[in-house]
Amino acid sequence: MAKSSANLDIQFYDYHPEQSDFYSEVVVGLQATPKVIPPKFFYDEVGSQLFEQICQLPEYYPTRTEQQILASNAGEIANIIGTHSYILEPGCGSCEKIKNLIDTLRPKAYVPMDISKDFLQKSAQAISDEYPWLDVHAACVDFTAPMQLPFCPDNEHKLAFFPGSSIGNFEPKHAKQFLRQVADMVGKGGGMLIGVDLKKEEQLLRDAYNDDAGVTAEFNLNLLTRINDELDANFDLEHFDHHAFYNADIGRIEMHLVSQKSQKIKVGDQLIDFTEGESIHTENSYKYTIKEFQQLASNAGFIPVDVWTDEQELFSVHYFEVPNG
Ligand code: AVJ
Repeated sequence: MAKSSANLDIQFYDYHPEQSDFYSEVVVGLQATPKVIPPKFFYDEVGSQLFEQICQLPEYYPTRTEQQILASNAGEIANIIGTHSYILEPGCGSCEKIKNLIDTLRPKAYVPMDISKDFLQKSAQAISDEYPWLDVHAACVDFTAPMQLPFCPDNEHKLAFFPGSSIGNFEPKHAKQFLRQVADMVGKGGGMLIGVDLKKEEQLLRDAYNDDAGVTAEFNLNLLTRINDELDANFDLEHFDHHAFYNADIGRIEMHLVSQKSQKIKVGDQLIDFTEGESIHTENSYKYTIKEFQQLASNAGFIPVDVWTDEQELFSVHYFEVPNG
């Protein structure tokens, strides 16, 4: 681990996380049956911008609902969690969401963690500039891999912040493993504030992933553009459709890219066969009832302490603790 803080107000810890091999993961996924590409590859520059646009869509309620829940309960949340914690945020991205909480939680330190080094450095510096009194310790890590613990004194109260229903992208089994790592990271007496999308009327769920403006379709199809550009492939976007539906048996939204016809696609030096109607499964977004999620977190070593929702019960923000004993 190299510690570098030249010309920075922040502390930066680079754990050199292993970067994904885009080409081999894509080729392995396209040679599998059924075809699959993991959602982490959505987020190139264009994809990240499209996701920002999704968060503004009238149909996509999670982002704004979560923000509203955090804003309207900030005082109570701070009372329960307490002030002066070390706030750790795995996969912090632009560090935007924590801002709503910084003034009320008055953390002792903020520890943003992300795999993308340059972006992390910029976001962490921006937070530090905006809150000059706040200690910022940024850690470049892969939070989906068994986690190396970033700089964090043992005796401090630690709070993990995991907003946006990012947990929905994990298979429940992996969600449990991840939450167990988070529990280990915050330690006994530590807490976790986590945003989780709720099960609800199917039409609302479907609409959130099938917006009228077609931004979610563009976001999904951008994966093929990215593969074309970066991996020397020849997907014709005219011949693939965005398909998103709610799989009620499993409790998840599935996104797919469906081939409109039988076709052969070149990806680097591989040739991939598609039959008509064959799909590439690009994302799962699991939805939970409050009880289901409390059960999942309990299985990972947490105790449910409190949970907040909006009036329509579209979204939930849970607070859990690791028991002291
Ligand atoms: C970032 C995983 C929470 O599942 O709702 C939004 C991603 N995909 N629209 C979600 C997403 C399509 C989003 N998460």
